[in-house]
Amino acid sequence: MLQKQCLKTKRVLILASGDGSNFEAIVKYFQDKGLLVYDDAKTSLQKHIRCDVADKTSQHKVYIELISDKKDANVLKRAHRLNIKYHYVEFNNLETFLQNNILKKGQGFDLYVLAGFMRVLPKQILDLMEFDKNKIVNIHPSLLPEFKGKNAIERAFAAGVLKTGVTVHFVDENLDGGKILERCAFEVSALSLEELEAKIHALEHKIYPEIIEKLLFKKNVLVFGGGAREHALAFKIALSPYLAKLYLAKPNDGFKNLGKIIEFKDYDELLRRALECGIDILVIGPEAPLFEGLVDMFNAEGIKTIGANKAWARLEESKIFAKEFMANSPKNPIKTADYRVVNNIPEADEALNYFKAKGANVPVIKADGSALGKGVYLPSSYDDALMCAKEYLDGKFGDASRKILIEERLFGIEVSIMSLWDGNTLVSFPPACDYKRLLDDNKGPNTGGMGAYAPSKITPVQQKRIDSYLKKLECALKICGANFCGVVYSGLILTDSSKVFDGCDAANIDADNGVYVLEYNMRFGDPEIQALLELLDDGAGCDLLDIFIKMTQKRLCKSDLKFKNAVAYCLTLASKGYPVCPEKGAEISGLMAVKKHNCKIYFAGVKYKQNTSDSSLDFLNSLATNGGRVMSIVRSADKSNPEACIEAILDIYQTAQKIKYDGKIYRKDIGK
Ligand code: GAR
Repeated sequence: MLQKQCLKTKRVLILASGDGSNFEAIVKYFQDKGLLVYDDAKTSLQKHIRCDVADKTSQHKVYIELISDKKDANVLKRAHRLNIKYHYVEFNNLETFLQNNILKKGQGFDLYVLAGFMRVLPKQILDLMEFDKNKIVNIHPSLLPEFKGKNAIERAFAAGVLKTGVTVHFVDENLDGGKILERCAFEVSALSLEELEAKIHALEHKIYPEIIEKLLFKKNVLVFGGGAREHALAFKIALSPYLAKLYLAKPNDGFKNLGKIIEFKDYDELLRRALECGIDILVIGPEAPLFEGLVDMFNAEGIKTIGANKAWARLEESKIFAKEFMANSPKNPIKTADYRVVNNIPEADEALNYFKAKGANVPVIKADGSALGKGVYLPSSYDDALMCAKEYLDGKFGDASRKILIEERLFGIEVSIMSLWDGNTLVSFPPACDYKRLLDDNKGPNTGGMGAYAPSKITPVQQKRIDSYLKKLECALKICGANFCGVVYSGLILTDSSKVFDGCDAANIDADNGVYVLEYNMRFGDPEIQALLELLDDGAGCDLLDIFIKMTQKRLCKSDLKFKNAVAYCLTLASKGYPVCPEKGAEISGLMAVKKHNCKIYFAGVKYKQNTSDSSLDFLNSLATNGGRVMSIVRSADKSNPEACIEAILDIYQTAQKIKYDGKIYRKDIGK
């Protein structure tokens, strides 16, 4: 199958006033990739374009032109040497020059790049360059908003800052103002001014061309899934400056307006349509498509994916596979509860006797396969355990429970860690806490999740131990050659509370002491991710799609996930009868309250009321319930301000009260 190609040459106009080292770095970057085309294409193309194997398939080209407002600027010499078309234009004439020469006949540029252009652009020029469509970028040698204006490096150095760096941002009407795309920081430590300047320039030359490339070649993204988790992911991706177009597979009616829907009967049809639409990245929310090999199908046709392939989805699909994975590095195994694999009743007897002889607590019964979150049973006695084992082996969950695990029961604090894995590097979100039981105080049946907050309330010692565990996990994934790009969710239990709270020295504690893995999932937790996404520091340029793009290029770095000093809460509103037999079809009202309380809503079990057309103007009054979990209400607050945190929870609960539908249920103790 052939993917639709866009052959358009992207046009970049660079404005610079000085030495032009950034200009040259940008030109060389595209030249080295074999993507640069010149004004005098006939003579220059063969001379300059190197085509290595990776680039032969690339259809995109980049054309660069330069304007300098300084007659003797070195950047003009560089342009001459590099065979780039250039103009010297006095600043006062810039507007007319752009109108009459450069932007004539409606031929604008795809991106305007300020690279050491020492002027604030007046509104008329900003308008000409379509700044409101985010077409102008600037690089600045400080951590904006600090040290705006000229001589930023010297001023930061003189002020004795401990940290500085580089900021790339869209340009608005203010001096060095506009949405931040990337902010790279480093410690100044004992650097001289010259060394600091060199370090900043080297960083600029690395990040600026990469960001320009991402802005020129934006991505078409397809988000698969129709829950609140997928709504949150789609919402974040829709805000990304690196998005070309958002497509949705199986969204619910509450967020289908965020993108273009791809309808399909089966995965073959989905793949065909995705190729027709030129999808670059498929982001998969739920686990079922991972188990069914959707990733493998898309990868085979060259579409990148965020989600595990069929082979590695087994880490979630089979508890036995997960146990074997954890034991894989014998010298340094990942800690998990002692267990026995059981295929029949005599083996169940034997396993239970083993735990009894050990003097262990009554063990846990787990179906090997996926049983939609219901396959774990906590028996009250050994007799109860045997009865449950029999039921499971008799096929209570079909094939999923024909094999079971009988597993030592652990006690402690449970936390969820969402990690991103690009095939080489593992990067994690802070620990999150979810509320699995239906009722307050963790009573009632297990559910898909009634709420969450992040980060979890854990001590620095516990965090250190979790970090050690995550190093082990990264190492195990590497050793086992985990060749996928996606999410690894570790369901952990922290068992060693005694040492945690007695104030002993963290350095003397075993690396991952007391950190045990209860389960792996291979997708983002719902509702944990709704809270965790709130923590991403968009003000520092931490963009979810940008991270996904880096993952698909195997370029994920530990510093890519940047977090605000915030805490986020998520409350699930569900329908009466959930989780067994939820009521459906109740009209939802009061959604306007969300704005008043600064909350976000991510929809799950909702659909348009009958007789409502998709183009309904009154979207917020058009929805009815259509499932167990109806929506997530999310709000975050500054972590260092306890009053703000209390207010955030209050806001969520006031919103929950004002949203009305028959049969509404929710927990009252989230975050408390
Ligand atoms: C760069 O350090 C850039 O960040 C800065 O001018 C220098 C140009 O160097 N820009 C600003 O200060 C914008 N306010 P170059 O001419 O060698 O590329």
